[in-house]
Amino acid sequence: MGWLVELFVSLILLSLSFAITDSAPQSALITKLPGFNNKFSSKHYAGYVAIDKEGRKNFWYYFVESERNASKDPIVLWLNGGPGCSSMDGFVYEHGPFNFERTKTNNPRLHPNRYSWSKVSNIIYLDSPVGVGYSYSKDKSDYTTSDTKTASDSHAFLIKWFKMFPEFQSNPFFISGESYAGIYVPTLASKIVKGNKNVIKKHKKIKRSINVTKPIINLKGYLVGNGVTDPVFDGNALVPFAHGMALISNELFEETRTACKGKYSNENVSDGCKVKIKKVSDGVSLLNIYNILEPCYHKKSISTFDIGSLPPSFLKLGKTEKSLPVRKRMFGRAWPLGAFVRPGIVPSWSQLLADSSVPCIDDRVATAWLNDPAVRKAVHAKEENEIGRWELCSSQITYDHNAGSMIEFHRNLTLSGYRALIYSGDHDMCVPYTGSEAWTKSMGYKVVDKWRPWISNGEVGGFTQGYDNNLTFLTIKGAGHTVPEYKPQEALDFYSRFLAGKKM
Ligand SMILES: *[C@@H]1O[C@H](CO)[C@@H](O)[C@H](O)[C@H]1NC(C)=O
Ligand SMILES: *[C@@H]1O[C@H](CO)[C@@H](O)[C@H](O)[C@H]1NC(C)=O
Ligand SMILES: *[C@@H]1O[C@H](CO)[C@@H](O)[C@H](O)[C@H]1NC(C)=O
Ligand SMILES: *[C@@H]1O[C@H](CO)[C@@H](O)[C@H](O)[C@H]1NC(C)=O
Ligand SMILES: *[C@@H]1O[C@H](CO)[C@@H](O)[C@H](O)[C@H]1NC(C)=O
Repeated sequence: MGWLVELFVSLILLSLSFAITDSAPQSALITKLPGFNNKFSSKHYAGYVAIDKEGRKNFWYYFVESERNASKDPIVLWLNGGPGCSSMDGFVYEHGPFNFERTKTNNPRLHPNRYSWSKVSNIIYLDSPVGVGYSYSKDKSDYTTSDTKTASDSHAFLIKWFKMFPEFQSNPFFISGESYAGIYVPTLASKIVKGNKNVIKKHKKIKRSINVTKPIINLKGYLVGNGVTDPVFDGNALVPFAHGMALISNELFEETRTACKGKYSNENVSDGCKVKIKKVSDGVSLLNIYNILEPCYHKKSISTFDIGSLPPSFLKLGKTEKSLPVRKRMFGRAWPLGAFVRPGIVPSWSQLLADSSVPCIDDRVATAWLNDPAVRKAVHAKEENEIGRWELCSSQITYDHNAGSMIEFHRNLTLSGYRALIYSGDHDMCVPYTGSEAWTKSMGYKVVDKWRPWISNGEVGGFTQGYDNNLTFLTIKGAGHTVPEYKPQEALDFYSRFLAGKKM
């Protein structure tokens, strides 16, 4: 009996790996999008995948085929952070197939994006966990979630997704994301590696089995941009960043370093150290935390916000001289200076503030477009009256950061042969490059490509250091927290090179 069940389970799993001959579901195909009147440069699909038999947890994805050679190019999963932010953030503002122009009417105009990541890869934008973007559950208790739940649900989504799109199963697969996805990416990668191993183990048990050598998900590596990783490294990052960027005086830096003995993240730091850290925080508080070079967007009236509880930098997010301004905005979960991500519940804006809207964000284009009933229909999303409004960052989830530090995940993954690119917009003060540079170095891997500039379009795109086990750290000069938003050409360059396994 047990054997039969085992066989049955294995055959189901097997069927995922190759027995299937059908292909992309035509019902998910998108043929037209409001705001765009030209032909798409490749095929687009979107829709829901229920990860359970009862159809309770429904994950929504938008899939863009590669504009080069979809059958050969890698397939990449994109995740925005938060936790709680929709991956359509990346689609609309960062590396999606369109640039969104705001118009006088409420209907954005879409133009082809020459730096879309779909130029060189197939890419899946996934709203995860349920309760985020268009993804939903019929049982609201699923909106209380965590790192581990999110990783296993996203894994379940992928298994189902590849079953629906079997023609992509043997393409090299990568996971990519930024900010809080610094947690999503390694936890999901690790889940996939374990899942693949289990399936292979199961096959080995069956004597008469078909010979399986292909893993179910052909994971090759992952990319993390300005990613949350570890409370000590992330917590230590601000003071040296502020010093290196000339935001605080050399004097204050030395005093702070001495008072804190070079350790700024421990909650048990001395009172003398706390005083100095507060001085540093106060000194940089008028800057835009997501890109210290940029001014910030805010609505005309900021009176709806509880100003007293906001760091001053949040109040000045906004104005710009550019004709098509770089969007200035915050994310659904905020880490005011010094309040970097720690284990436990990560508060949402609505939990931090009485007002549930996120201060200083300019998400007007995305919010208008993704709540247009015609758009929702075109991308096969449920109507607003069924699942609520699309929000850049969801206020309906309660999220427990329970996976701890990511460093051990990165170690296991890189030592198992998965390639990793850890990149940082070097003007981001939210998850500063100093933390990512320090933790990648702390892995203790041999330096195989010593710190040097990398070149994009004949200019220095930033700097890179390569380590053994295919771990690469890379900065993007002048970019903020959301790298492709600020430096789209450079971003497509390093992205293409990484996927192709080329030198940066
Ligand atoms: C795309 O790649 C596949 C597999 O390598 C190849 O057979 C096919 O000819 C390529 N198509 C084009 C248009 O280059
Ligand atoms: C399964 O495939 C592997 C690798 O191709 C091969 O070495 C092995 O002999 C095969 N086993 C069977 C039972 O066909
Ligand atoms: C801070 O001090 C408390 C009480 O001594 C201790 O339990 C805790 O582990 C310390 N935290 C850190 C991060 O060292
Ligand atoms: C890393 O690998 C070790 C040894 O296989 C294992 O015990 C540990 O649980 C793994 N850690 C993570 C975070 O995957
Ligand atoms: C690094 O990646 C390349 C390309 O995928 C691979 O050939 C090589 O074996 C990897 N090196 C290590 C040390 O894992």
